[in-house]
Amino acid sequence: MTEQKIADRAAELRRELHHHAHRYYVLDDPEIPDAEYDRLFRELQALEEAHPELRTPDSPTQRVGGAVLPSLTPVRHTVPMLSIRTETDTEDSGALNFDARVRRELRLTEADAPVEYAAELKFDGLAINLRYEEGVLVQAATRGDGEVGEDVTHNIRKIPQIPLRLHGVDVPVLEVRGEVYMRRDRFEQMNARLRDKGERTFVNPRNTAAGAVRQLDPAALDGKPLNFFAYGLGDVQGWDVPATHSAMLDALHRMGLPVDKERTVTQGAAGLIAFHQRIGAKRDALPFDIDGVVYKVNSRALQQRLGFVSREPRWAVAHKYPAQEQMTVVNGIDVQVGRTGKLTPVAKLQPVFVGGTTVSNATLHNLFELRRKRVRVGDTVIVRRAGDVIPEVVGVVPGKRSGYVPNFRMPRQCPVCGSDVLREKGGVDHRCTGGLFCAAQRKQAILHFAGRRAMDIEGLGEKIVDQLIEGGIVRTLPDLYKLGVAKLAALERMADKSAQNLVAALDKSKRTTLGRFLYALGIRQVGETTAKDLAKHFGSLDRIMDASLEQLLQVKDVGPVVAQSIRAFFDQPHNREVAEQLRAAGISWDEHAGVEADTTPKPLAGKTFVLTGTLPTLSRDDAKDLIEAAGGKVSGSVSKKTHFVVAGSEAGSKLDKANELGVAVLDEAGLLALLRSAE
Ligand code: IVH
Repeated sequence: MTEQKIADRAAELRRELHHHAHRYYVLDDPEIPDAEYDRLFRELQALEEAHPELRTPDSPTQRVGGAVLPSLTPVRHTVPMLSIRTETDTEDSGALNFDARVRRELRLTEADAPVEYAAELKFDGLAINLRYEEGVLVQAATRGDGEVGEDVTHNIRKIPQIPLRLHGVDVPVLEVRGEVYMRRDRFEQMNARLRDKGERTFVNPRNTAAGAVRQLDPAALDGKPLNFFAYGLGDVQGWDVPATHSAMLDALHRMGLPVDKERTVTQGAAGLIAFHQRIGAKRDALPFDIDGVVYKVNSRALQQRLGFVSREPRWAVAHKYPAQEQMTVVNGIDVQVGRTGKLTPVAKLQPVFVGGTTVSNATLHNLFELRRKRVRVGDTVIVRRAGDVIPEVVGVVPGKRSGYVPNFRMPRQCPVCGSDVLREKGGVDHRCTGGLFCAAQRKQAILHFAGRRAMDIEGLGEKIVDQLIEGGIVRTLPDLYKLGVAKLAALERMADKSAQNLVAALDKSKRTTLGRFLYALGIRQVGETTAKDLAKHFGSLDRIMDASLEQLLQVKDVGPVVAQSIRAFFDQPHNREVAEQLRAAGISWDEHAGVEADTTPKPLAGKTFVLTGTLPTLSRDDAKDLIEAAGGKVSGSVSKKTHFVVAGSEAGSKLDKANELGVAVLDEAGLLALLRSAE
């Protein structure tokens, strides 16, 4: 490169880095992945290193980054918030280099004992300084540029994990530093909710957390559950700080602050490498994103001896893992049909190494999300793969499209079975209507059909269905009734006795009710209650199959979406054939018998329940049976119309929603008490 070319490149890199730093720090809306920013940054650093005359005072390399929004009050940190040196080398050598540097600085020889380190996770969130005076939280501030941050006390107070008063400590000043983050499951739930509503989704948990904390209106945090981990100290007055970093974190933990439990104390480079590997292996299983681990010299006395270089402590280093977001090019857009018939546009990518594996497909979720993100074939996109979440395209890198590329269109026919594709009114998902016939939906259709509340075929579980489908033994539902003991006994882990039992269960299932049969067909939007209502209203399968939209709308609780779904299902000749063949296989019910009169009292009539999480003794079906027997209704989602949410352990977003809407929440004991009192 000529001198001029090098100068031009440096100027271009400065421009790009300024632009991206602004998107990242000020707008919380980055256009490129961090890894790409780091690459540009390092390129500029290298150019400046080789040609110091190109280093300008405003170069991004001369600043720690960050900016203060004019609207939040600036806070000057009493003790600057430093950054950590990053070891971008994701191999073991990252740890070896750090340990060697520390030993050199401390003038240790090979004869000296290994250095003791505190090893912890590098959380991918937003750094926060919490100031406690006399044990009371008085201020929370972002890092900003390290010297001056922003006052975000109003938002931080809404994070339940952050104590407003420390337990058993009332020293004059104690500043606690740590990371505000969002758990991955909470992030996915939040995005799923937004996606269902056809709204704009968030790029990743880190940006969501950072964006939420810096909002002027604390209401912006609603629906965005945040968490916190403490990892260090700022200004301290009147507290006798423990002699090691690990003991200090233990003390913070006793004061009521959350501290991560993966952290450990270890000796020398070997200990660091083991930690890096152990955490690397379980990175996907952690409930939150990390972008590396952090090693800190454990002794505070040694930390003081080591001191700082520019704005980074010599006693700490961040050792990275492969980035969870990368740039690549979209080579095509395919459509996949899921187990439930949902059509998902999938980007076929130029293979890229992201989050520790090579990714060549990434979901675009649905047509509306694809359009909102403006993804077209040939575009350069950001791909994210974190945890066990399927890789997704989070956005297009602007300005890289060359020439006209037509917009993607959803196929009108299912790419797997050719049945019509339908989108429900107001919904965002396109679906194949060939439920019983479509190969993509076979397993799901059979499992649903066999379910306890459908045809109740005992012993026909997932493992057997998998074998039946994969072995080509069963293609559609009627094939089930052709199964004999010999065929079944030939399956893996299937004893003669079990095969006989299954054949008997299949035989027994043939005698059923029209309501159960209709429900078993797995028509979208037709749950148990609707199926029963349809059976009662029409009295025969033929009348239901032939009912017009208008006639369907006459049925109690059947609206346009449900009516359209039933019509679309029976408009597919293959679905009708399957229903006919099932009847021919001997399935029967009393046509015209109606639903038997039920005279038991219905104390919960008109009450709607939502079940979430695992109850200590009742299965979901049991709980549903009890509620329905008492006249109550069980619904799948929480709304203002829900009367009670019954929550067990591991309850997730439904419980959050209930609390948000002020819906009464019961545990199992509460539900049983309600049922008793209603008797
Ligand atoms: S210690 C003097 N520990 O990484 C060292 N930082 O560049 C000060 N971070 O944005 C930081 N996890 O928010 C430390 N376990 C950890 C961390 C951590 C994440 C972030 C921190 C800051 C950046 C440091």
